[in-house]
Amino acid sequence: MPPITIYLILIFSLFIPPHPTTADQSFISSLITQPGLDFVKNLLISKAIPTLTAARISAIQKTVRIPLIGKVHIVLSDITINRVNVGLSNIKPDVTGVTIFGSDVTCDLSMKWHYSYGTWLGPVSISDSGTARVKVMGMETGTKLGLHNQEGSLNLYVMECNCHMRDISIDLNGGASWLYQGIVDAFEEPIISAVTKEIIKKLKAGVIKLGSVMKSLPKLVEVDDIASLNVTFVDDPFLSDTSLGFRINGLFVEPKKDKYLCANKLQPPVSCSDPKKMLGIALDEAVFNSAFSLYYNAVFMRWVVDKAPEQNLLNTAGWRFIVPQLYRKYPNDDMNLEISLSSPPIIRVSSKQDIDAIIYADLIIDVLQGDDTIPVACISLVMTGVGSVQITGNNLTGHLKLDDFTMSLKWSKIGTLHMFLIQPVMWTIIETVFLPYINARVGTGFPLPIFRGINLQNAEILFQDSRITICSDFSYKEPFDPSRTLVYSS
Ligand SMILES: *[C@@H]1O[C@H](CO)[C@@H](O)[C@H](O)[C@H]1NC(C)=O
Ligand SMILES: *[C@@H]1O[C@H](CO)[C@@H](O)[C@H](O)[C@H]1NC(C)=O
Repeated sequence: MPPITIYLILIFSLFIPPHPTTADQSFISSLITQPGLDFVKNLLISKAIPTLTAARISAIQKTVRIPLIGKVHIVLSDITINRVNVGLSNIKPDVTGVTIFGSDVTCDLSMKWHYSYGTWLGPVSISDSGTARVKVMGMETGTKLGLHNQEGSLNLYVMECNCHMRDISIDLNGGASWLYQGIVDAFEEPIISAVTKEIIKKLKAGVIKLGSVMKSLPKLVEVDDIASLNVTFVDDPFLSDTSLGFRINGLFVEPKKDKYLCANKLQPPVSCSDPKKMLGIALDEAVFNSAFSLYYNAVFMRWVVDKAPEQNLLNTAGWRFIVPQLYRKYPNDDMNLEISLSSPPIIRVSSKQDIDAIIYADLIIDVLQGDDTIPVACISLVMTGVGSVQITGNNLTGHLKLDDFTMSLKWSKIGTLHMFLIQPVMWTIIETVFLPYINARVGTGFPLPIFRGINLQNAEILFQDSRITICSDFSYKEPFDPSRTLVYSS
């Protein structure tokens, strides 16, 4: 199986308002709530600090008139931000964008100073040099991010970015005492302005980088060689005073083929009962149905049973009393059962905390004679079951339990079969062969569209009419290859 890559954005939650425009194209929505946004903010700040501390600011020089000494040329060079500490931070969405505030920010700078001046006594010039430390205190920053849907990708950009510093303190190493006052008087403003400019530049560059990663996210994420998930963004992100939401198309499609499928009404509000959950992801039942209709066409929804826990079911002798004419015609021959789905399974999410499934299958009874496979009868099955779902890692996994089934003879080369006699045998085959097979596949599940590095925790699943909603917290662990941070891979 090729590597499974999936990605997506997260955000959203407590409430996704109806979106009349293109909502019928969107079958997965997510909402990041305030606790989730706080997590994202802390993550972004922890990423921003190392880029700020690596900043080097270009030299500042000035000729300053110092009393009793005259004109002095002073240069501050090698200005480096060594440490940044964000005292308080905050993230605030509103209908126009998302603002990240930092206040009580302090930073330490180091630099070199150098001065020179001539004297009135003659051509001798006097110079000296040393180092200095600067502490910036009470700095505040605000970065407002805009988010838009651009042809199915997410466009993230800076709407506003500002930075204010209240105070700096300068600590010179060496130098004459007049120098200290001279630097404070002449350089306080330029230092503040250079550092402010540099911080704004770095913050903007960080957003542009993040934006270009978002824009380059794939629109189809390969699940395996049969299905890809369409993760195209639909509509602009949803912004309110407490949350940020995204809708994606969310249907399974054939890899790299243009095709699809049912428009289903999107249910309006989704709610997580626990407002402290960081993230909600709502999946319409159309998502499951799109997956099943793809896998339906694929090879592994048709298979041959040549081993069964009750091996006597695979020899005509085992059928001796159930279908006597089969045994009479082919005494003691081995058999295969060929099971194939006759149309895609149908999934309905009900509000009674479960998922109803209807599975249509044909079962062909083959008799094996030497190298020949002789199909002798075909029975149609309609099975109804109840599915449960859970979250395993970042996968949505399921388990199916059979409720009931009905069967009918589709065709036969061995005359009439007594269905009431065959029924218990079918039940055994379904329970011991068919269901374990289906459950092995749905038990692996499929990856939810979530950024790489994000791990769901304490997920809860809620059922609403035709939709399930996953309400979850998450943690973040730096992926192995940071250049692909936003791509989820399992
Ligand atoms: C993916 O979803 C988008 C938005 O709904 C749609 O326009 C596009 O045709 C879909 N792509 C495929 C391959 O189905
Ligand atoms: C998640 O689903 C994918 C695709 O079905 C599978 O390959 C992968 O092993 C699953 N991961 C886990 C943790 O079960």
